[in-house]
Amino acid sequence: MPNSTHSVYNRPGDVRPRVLITAGPTHEPIDAVRFIGNRSSGRMGAAMADECAQRGWETTLLLGPSTVLPGDRRVRVERFRTASDLQLALRRHMGDADVLIMAAAVADYRPVVDPSFFGGKFRRKSEKLVLELEPTPDLLAEVAATRRTDQLLVGFALEPRDELIDAACSKMQRKKIDMVVANPLETMDSDSIEATVLYADNTPSRTFEKRPKTEVAPWLLDLVELRWAMQRDGAPSLRAGA
Ligand code: CTP
Repeated sequence: MPNSTHSVYNRPGDVRPRVLITAGPTHEPIDAVRFIGNRSSGRMGAAMADECAQRGWETTLLLGPSTVLPGDRRVRVERFRTASDLQLALRRHMGDADVLIMAAAVADYRPVVDPSFFGGKFRRKSEKLVLELEPTPDLLAEVAATRRTDQLLVGFALEPRDELIDAACSKMQRKKIDMVVANPLETMDSDSIEATVLYADNTPSRTFEKRPKTEVAPWLLDLVELRWAMQRDGAPSLRAGA
């Protein structure tokens, strides 16, 4: 497989993918002022959105509560706060997307909030407070269940290094997506990144050796572009479920 796809697929007049990217954390409310969140910055998703726009691709970024914004004004940005917000946004936008890149760090659990309390604020008491949590839906799996066969679904997996490939692979199979970008956990607070892209068919994986985070978006989008173009052109082994 070639390293870069531009010579093959960026011919004038080529159809360009409409890309939907999700990025950033979710904030799941505990009460009117508190939430459960995570440390995702949204930087990776914003960088990918900028890179897509610079390639002339129609780009929508669904962005969680993050201070990072894309720099390219051609990126259409829509904000979300909770996993539920993102679920609704995905349902609205997936019909118009050719590629979904799901980089958002979606909460796996959210507080079960008493509706009579919502809008109010917990008061300090001397007893222990037990917070009840319920699982959030798996948004990628939900999208995959209703996908069109010409759509490309890309997920992310941040995993401990010793189980990186196995865990990312089983995630890709469980969610029924086409590609997964596996990153070791150490990537989170680092300026550099190592990434391995795994494919649901038997295409050999591709690895981005440790390099600055700024360099990963073009590398990854070359792989996405090539895979989408193959899928669009109807390579039978790439069709969902094949
Ligand atoms: N994801 C999702 N919906 C969720 C949780 C995660 O769509 N409720 C997506 C993420 O955006 C990411 C991929 O699934 O692209 C993997 O996320 P991750 O949190 O690593 O996987 P989980 O399904 O949460 O599995 P686990 O908790 O076992 O790691």
